[in-house]
Amino acid sequence: MKFFIDTANLDQIKEAQDLGILDGVTTNPSLMAKEGITGKDNILAHYRAICELVEGDVSAEVIATDLEGIIREGEELAALNPQIVVKVPMIKDGIKAIHHFTKNDIRTNCTLIFSAGQALLAAKAGASYVSPFIGRLDDISTDGLHLIADIRTIFDNYLFNTEILAASIRHPMHIIDCALLGADVATAPLSAITALLNHPLTDSGLQKFLEDYNKGNL
Ligand code: E4P
Repeated sequence: MKFFIDTANLDQIKEAQDLGILDGVTTNPSLMAKEGITGKDNILAHYRAICELVEGDVSAEVIATDLEGIIREGEELAALNPQIVVKVPMIKDGIKAIHHFTKNDIRTNCTLIFSAGQALLAAKAGASYVSPFIGRLDDISTDGLHLIADIRTIFDNYLFNTEILAASIRHPMHIIDCALLGADVATAPLSAITALLNHPLTDSGLQKFLEDYNKGNL
């Protein structure tokens, strides 16, 4: 499974990159705003900076919601760097735009996926990735992991190449469950990724090893 970090924070991206496990980055307008990145020029410059930090795919989201605008913005984003994957919302014009981008060899990530039908449509249009938002489904008492399982089954039934990018991940168990279900990618905040490092038995075991070593060697 690929690990993407879900942030526009350059320090956090660097920290995940330094761990040696990072395969890419996802951003969205809210994550950009959280870092205080506003205005088109600053946003484009920030995407360039992210691409310089990492080697993998970097999802950059369009703001337009009409076909012409999505295509114009998407082409501009894709021209920034070959690592850019154009993030397109799951709306009718978004699906049309994904079809256009696919024909023109521009990779896409269809975002705001909340149902298997939406994922199926995006895959039919040729999306490189679909982003089911599991945390936001959990937030409204609907099991987000069921959606991952359903999309996995559908994509495997028809051998779609579209990758399942599990998004809106809240905690480390989401990452583990997505791995068990066969999601191709998990995009997560740094806190959920680094939480995978921790186990109390690792800590107590290491402490005991060091104590026993020190007894014989000090
Ligand atoms: C990633 O591509 C999504 O935009 C992101 O995971 C959404 O996460 P949130 O539900 O925590 O905002």
